[in-house]
Amino acid sequence: MENLRLGLVGCGNMMKHHISGVKLLDNVDITALCDSELERAENVAELFPDAFVTTDYREMTEHIDAILIALPHDLHYECGMFFANNGKHVLMEKPICNSEEECLKLIERCEEKKLTFMCAYPVPYMPAVVKLKELLDSGEFGAVMQMSIWTEQLTQNEELHWINTSRLGGGQFFSHGCHYVDILLRFLGNPVSGTHFGTRVGTPWMIKEGTSIASFKFENGALGYHGATWGARGTMLGALNMQVHTEKGMLEMTRGEVRLYDELEKHIPGQEADCNYKVLFKTEGLNGKHTNFEIEHFADCVLNGKTPMTSARSALQSLRIIWKMYEAEKNGTIADLRGMGIANI
Ligand SMILES: NC(=O)c1ccc[n+]([C@@H]2O[C@H](COP(=O)([O-])OP(=O)(O)OC[C@H]3O[C@@H](n4cnc5c(N)ncnc54)[C@H](O)[C@@H]3O)[C@@H](O)[C@H]2O)c1
Repeated sequence: MENLRLGLVGCGNMMKHHISGVKLLDNVDITALCDSELERAENVAELFPDAFVTTDYREMTEHIDAILIALPHDLHYECGMFFANNGKHVLMEKPICNSEEECLKLIERCEEKKLTFMCAYPVPYMPAVVKLKELLDSGEFGAVMQMSIWTEQLTQNEELHWINTSRLGGGQFFSHGCHYVDILLRFLGNPVSGTHFGTRVGTPWMIKEGTSIASFKFENGALGYHGATWGARGTMLGALNMQVHTEKGMLEMTRGEVRLYDELEKHIPGQEADCNYKVLFKTEGLNGKHTNFEIEHFADCVLNGKTPMTSARSALQSLRIIWKMYEAEKNGTIADLRGMGIANI
């Protein structure tokens, strides 16, 4: 089978991660590159000397089968629609688009044209996250009562950067929390209700919240929590930490490992609990944001006509939930999330 000819639009911060991911794959060729700042595209072209380079993505079509879009959020729709109209499969950085109407129009156009349209959520494809889900789904640990996800980063750009403007489409919860609302839906099933609180304290460069706390109740009785900040000046948990309390112990996903804490009697309050865990899984050959796994999945779906796990339609559910929770936060109510699970698409 021939390799997938993939074009890249937006050679900025995130594309660096995708490039280190794609270099690990042997069924994907980067055949075209675009950035409105030529120097950025040319820098990437040093790694892919045969690729066509342009500052105008409309010139890329004859060189590619599929496109990976990593642009500021307000440009996702227009760019995605251009490639869908031209019969190209789309791997779109999150959040798919800044409104439900744009997401749906683009999803429907890709469906009409029988194109793969996948959201570039890397987390569900990370080996340690895959393993954590496999362990929970096996039933070996009994029911889940609570899953908590923390992300702690400092995301501070220069004053006029698009991330600090309405081009972001929301705050930290929309832009970054969408990864983890999606994970909670994949792990815990259909949501029932949720609340969100956001604050700009500590991240005055953001026009909406830079720190976000969200809690959820699911149909099966499990509770979900997401606490995240783009204003971290220090961290104990690292950029991403997941903890799942089950009937048989607490499973943690951290730094590419899955750990089990199940000997509570050895935990002495006030003393380190580190000695108490067993490592159940360790990722080999960590690669930054692990984007090779998601791109590999995208290529497999395009080349073999499969539906992506993070199809744009499934990813839209996480955005719908976030919009509903923002609305409830504004109105001082609890968001009714019934019917918004991935199973309902
Ligand atoms: N999955 C993740 O963990 C993750 C992390 C960071 C960012 N992202 C996503 O990646 C996307 C890009 O974010 P970023 O942080 O890389 O932003 P960035 O500003 O670093 O990069 C965007 C690039 O797009 C270029 N660009 C702007 N307008 C253009 C146009 N019309 N045509 C061609 N190029 C154009 C800019 O010159 C820039 O190089 C966003 O959707 C963001 O949410 C994902």
